Amino acid sequence: MNPRPISRRRALVLGGAGVAALAAGAAGWISTAGSPAAGTTLDAGATREPLAPPAELTARDGRLQVELVAATGVRLAGRDTRALGFNGTSPGPTLRLRPGDELAVRLTNHLDQPTNLHTHGLRVSPQGNSDNPFLRIDPGASFDYRIPVPPDHPPGTHWYHPHYHGTVADQLFGGLAGALLVDGGPPLPVDDDRVLLITDTTLNADGTVPVASPAERMQGREGQLVLLNGQHQPVVSAAPGHAQRWRLINGCISRVLAVRLEGHTLQQIAQDSTFLPAPTPHRQLVLAPGNRADVVVQPDRAGRFTLLTDPYDRGTAMSGMGGTPPAATGSTTLATLAVDGPAATAPALPTTLPAEPPPAAATATRSTAFQMGMGGMRGGTGNTTTDALPMSFTIDGRSFDPNRDDQIVTAGTVEEWTVTNTGPLAHPFHLHVWPFTVVAASDGRPTTGVPQDVVLVPATGWVRLRIPFTSHTGRSVYHCHILDHEDAGMMATIVVR
Ligand code: C2O
Ligand code: CU
Ligand code: CU
Repeated sequence: MNPRPISRRRALVLGGAGVAALAAGAAGWISTAGSPAAGTTLDAGATREPLAPPAELTARDGRLQVELVAATGVRLAGRDTRALGFNGTSPGPTLRLRPGDELAVRLTNHLDQPTNLHTHGLRVSPQGNSDNPFLRIDPGASFDYRIPVPPDHPPGTHWYHPHYHGTVADQLFGGLAGALLVDGGPPLPVDDDRVLLITDTTLNADGTVPVASPAERMQGREGQLVLLNGQHQPVVSAAPGHAQRWRLINGCISRVLAVRLEGHTLQQIAQDSTFLPAPTPHRQLVLAPGNRADVVVQPDRAGRFTLLTDPYDRGTAMSGMGGTPPAATGSTTLATLAVDGPAATAPALPTTLPAEPPPAAATATRSTAFQMGMGGMRGGTGNTTTDALPMSFTIDGRSFDPNRDDQIVTAGTVEEWTVTNTGPLAHPFHLHVWPFTVVAASDGRPTTGVPQDVVLVPATGWVRLRIPFTSHTGRSVYHCHILDHEDAGMMATIVVR
């Protein structure tokens, strides 16, 4: 049932001395060896181990107080690596709250570059020490976040990751991500409630994460290892007749997942943070970077079934300029579902779910455009990651400037936005704090009718969104969730007042 009691695990919190030793032992948080040549990368050290959930930290008495230490040195894909984690693990601990709780995070930065924290999907204030993407936490510093979750916040699957502009892609590709769940919602006939946080990365032979080339950053990096909860192709066990809720989170910085489970239908119950009106069967579920889908899997017979992601064509940044060719032509295995026991039918799902009613009609319209152009960045940020690109990544022709107000919106209104994409690559549009309902898309794909916070804008296409700016006021951002593009400038500010 949901929520079911879940055994609490203690977070592994490295002592200060341990963290310092780890940090000092690294020449840099990321290898300076450049992109891996063939034969110099690390394969998974362990495959097909039982799925291990991230540690779980649950709010008590209306509050979840946690310390997150971002540092180098985690076990990833069955290897001891120089990749990044929170509290020594990648993913970091799963944070579990209820509507009305306060999330209090002390974030300590043991990286050698600035960082901060974003609670992706939460409808919370973007101001002050709440979900504020403009904060900068320097190496060695700590910061205390206080994020009150409103009492009417919808239950659902969210996640957290760093958001300091210019370093977001490297830090997430390095391993810094975790799940953030808001409990509640109808009872579901499931025996397990699992986080399946999917990330990808590449490891050099020495366990460091390679520096991305300009071509990789333009295309958006796709790692050689696709990981589930930091594991390589783990085994999820199940019994016939016992359903499981899987909270799929696409934490990859660029890769679009097209998820499929052999021999099964995925019954989707929620998209991003909120419930669908009814369970919806899918053979394959497409998740852009940042998207989530809650699905129920109902095994009814014994067997071994592969959970995989099919190739997805998101376009090519530049033909002839070293745009990364798709790494794999076939499907990639994410996990194996191992079902043991006598055949039995899982209980039926509810026929309706508590979807939010659609937003009121829009009273204002607005357009914004993702653009890629020749010539690189105008007015560099001083960040070598972004300044070296021979192409510009902009919104409405402008590169991100945290001090410029790009969109000014009147609080309390509902707006209809048309987001266009002038280029040859699909870009996932993401708006912080104010989820939107997709009204239509140029490729004619079906829309869910419920709020979401990431939507893929097709190459040379558009999406039309309805956005209620009725919850919080404040200043935040919207951007491409191919995080290499975001770091290259494809981000803009929005002020709701
Ligand atoms: Cu998941 Cu602004 O990001
Ligand atoms: Cu976000
Ligand atoms: Cu993009």
